Amino acid sequence: MGGLKMNHPDVAQISAVGIVGAGLMGHGIAQVFALKGFKVKLFDNDPRVVASAPERIRNNLRILLEMGLVKPVEIEDCLRRLQSCMDMAEVCSGVELIIEAVSENLPLKRAVFSDLERLTASRTILCSNTSGISIGKIAENLRLKERVVGTHFWNPPHLVPCVEVIQSPHTAPEVFQTVLELMRKVGKEPVRVLKDVPGFLGNRLQHALWREAISLVEKGIADPEDIDKVVKHGFGLRLAFLGPLETADLAGLDLVCDIHEYLFPDLDNRTGPSPLLKTLVDQKALGVKTRRGFYSWTDERIDRIIRQRDKALLRLTDVVNGLAREQKK
Ligand SMILES: NC(=O)c1ccc[n+]([C@@H]2O[C@H](COP(=O)([O-])OP(=O)(O)OC[C@H]3O[C@@H](n4cnc5c(N)ncnc54)[C@H](O)[C@@H]3O)[C@@H](O)[C@H]2O)c1
Repeated sequence: MGGLKMNHPDVAQISAVGIVGAGLMGHGIAQVFALKGFKVKLFDNDPRVVASAPERIRNNLRILLEMGLVKPVEIEDCLRRLQSCMDMAEVCSGVELIIEAVSENLPLKRAVFSDLERLTASRTILCSNTSGISIGKIAENLRLKERVVGTHFWNPPHLVPCVEVIQSPHTAPEVFQTVLELMRKVGKEPVRVLKDVPGFLGNRLQHALWREAISLVEKGIADPEDIDKVVKHGFGLRLAFLGPLETADLAGLDLVCDIHEYLFPDLDNRTGPSPLLKTLVDQKALGVKTRRGFYSWTDERIDRIIRQRDKALLRLTDVVNGLAREQKK
């Protein structure tokens, strides 16, 4: 960069954003911005995916409407702010910030960022919604790496408040700050990830839990139902309100330390996927997308569970926000 100031936009100067990739995450992220009054340009290299985005967003908003969280006029305004684009050049023009949400594949993401570098003004902020690929690696071949930031939304992005904002060693501090402020402006709860480690924060924690959960099934210690139950009806209940480190303080760090002495040698510490998981994948038991994974799935059960999940997320968020407000009093 040689000390050259790029004059990236501050949060007040951002009024239009571009989203590249309109799949599961991209369309939901588009909705978050459009609902908060931003002009949103949306592109996917599969034209059917772009064409179906407004209907998918309308569907997402239906549940908010049913729960009295949006008005019909807000839904129409949100959809009016959404512009479908035919190519990368179109999505790159006239926006101050772009979020990439294409498939999780490093060469693909690098190719998209190389296009973004070529097609955007050099002050435009570029974000990646990668689940855990290093932001520095995605930006490795770019000329202007200081404008690249990670913005890891959680699924479903229009309902889960947390967004991990990741700085690479090259990210400019003012760009990092602007993106954190922007996330607050659209109603999100951003967290700062200060080092560009694979998996960031949430996926490191989530996959550590998955490694042990799958290992317990593999060793025949419990059925998938009972493992899920111990989380849902046990320690998972408090996780929405008390994080693991708050819980450790409440339990007492001496107790936590004593348990780690005898328990850690017995926990799964494999450095690759478990043989059980690999076998399921080889058998095309991929979960809901093939109707079989750890459980058997029907279309009706998938629809019902996703609807119930969305309602539960909204209610839980409301309860936790209410408790946080009480705590501040
Ligand atoms: N699914 C999740 O739960 C989740 C959660 C958080 C983050 N993410 C991350 O978000 C990103 C997107 O994941 P997703 O679940 O939405 O995937 P998805 O498969 O639903 O959507 C990806 C979209 O990218 C499009 N695409 C591929 N190459 C493209 C290109 N060159 N230009 C434009 N569009 C292109 C595809 O057509 C597809 O519609 C990934 O990096 C993923 O790891 C996913």
